[in-house]
Amino acid sequence: MNHRVLCQAPGAPEVMKWVEAPLPNPAPGEAQIRHTAIGVNYIDVYQRSGVYPIPFPAVLGFEAAGVVLALGSGVAGFTVGQRVACVDGPTGAYSEARNHPADRLVTLPDSISDEAAAALIFKGLTAHMLVRRVWQPVQDSWVLVHAAAGGVGLILTRWLAAVGVHVIGVVSTEEKAGAARSEGAHTVITIPKGGSYKDLSSQVKRITGGTGVRVAYDSVGRDSFEASLDSLATFGLLASYGRSSGAPPAVDITDIGRRGSLAVQRPSVLHHVADPVVLQSAAKEVFEAYDQGLIKAHIYDRIPLRDAARAHRLLESRSTQGALLLIP
Ligand SMILES: NC(=O)c1ccc[n+]([C@@H]2O[C@H](COP(=O)([O-])OP(=O)(O)OC[C@H]3O[C@@H](n4cnc5c(N)ncnc54)[C@H](OP(=O)(O)O)[C@@H]3O)[C@@H](O)[C@H]2O)c1
Repeated sequence: MNHRVLCQAPGAPEVMKWVEAPLPNPAPGEAQIRHTAIGVNYIDVYQRSGVYPIPFPAVLGFEAAGVVLALGSGVAGFTVGQRVACVDGPTGAYSEARNHPADRLVTLPDSISDEAAAALIFKGLTAHMLVRRVWQPVQDSWVLVHAAAGGVGLILTRWLAAVGVHVIGVVSTEEKAGAARSEGAHTVITIPKGGSYKDLSSQVKRITGGTGVRVAYDSVGRDSFEASLDSLATFGLLASYGRSSGAPPAVDITDIGRRGSLAVQRPSVLHHVADPVVLQSAAKEVFEAYDQGLIKAHIYDRIPLRDAARAHRLLESRSTQGALLLIP
């Protein structure tokens, strides 16, 4: 019998329950996938807790690797037994097997294992959006990366550093600082849990010789937003792509102009890869970046799928570095 992790209503990690889930044949346009490794992402936490409203009952999960078990009518380009990854919605990756729209799947090359793919495809596409679409990296420029030892953070830091950008990382512990440095961060600033961001911009200005950073990649939101704006060079860009500490404040357009002709963007990977053609080309570039060593898969821990609540508690406690995997 197939199983999945079901949430009847939003709430604490305990709302996730291991349940039996009969699996119908795939509908037209769908592929049936048996998952081998499932990536946990902070967006799963937002959806589970109700911060990002979704219809309930719900099965969470955007990111998984697996094998095609069956194909619905009209599906071209995939074969039974082929290794694939799911990279975005609809949610439902927290399942042993499920049916998924075939045009939202990508084929896995032989060079990447299932676990590595589940650890980096969604996070890697997010980094791809940030380094390819949101801002084209310029060699020797300075950027700020918050949560630089997180799932997206380690991939983003390594990718930027590999193309010659000087990354100032922000993390909460010395151990995480070491992880960010290993991925190429030029300088890492440690702000412990509960610590203040008030001195961050002056440290950034000092490190950058007074100019500030060209881009601040801010996935932390409420706690770090003002410090990120203050850390920008004139005409700098705040890429506000997450809110792990809470919602960032509203932006006053006059204020960001007065602070130095700044720009603020709120990019989403779901928009980045909405077009199936872009999804395929972006995934190909992520796998090429992996093959070339521009990015790595960082697996912090593997947790049985039925213990998904433990994975969420770990992620929310800020004790992870890189990716958590759920193993069916
Ligand atoms: N816009 C998009 O399309 C998109 C796509 C993927 C992910 N994201 C966002 O990117 C961020 C990273 O996602 P991820 O899955 O890779 O998670 P993650 O970075 O592995 O985990 C979140 C990290 O945020 C830091 N953090 C700072 N303040 C925090 C707080 N008050 N509560 C919790 N964490 C806090 C922690 O690092 P320290 O302990 O080192 O501070 C923590 O480890 C999330 O905000 C996520 O929503 C956005």
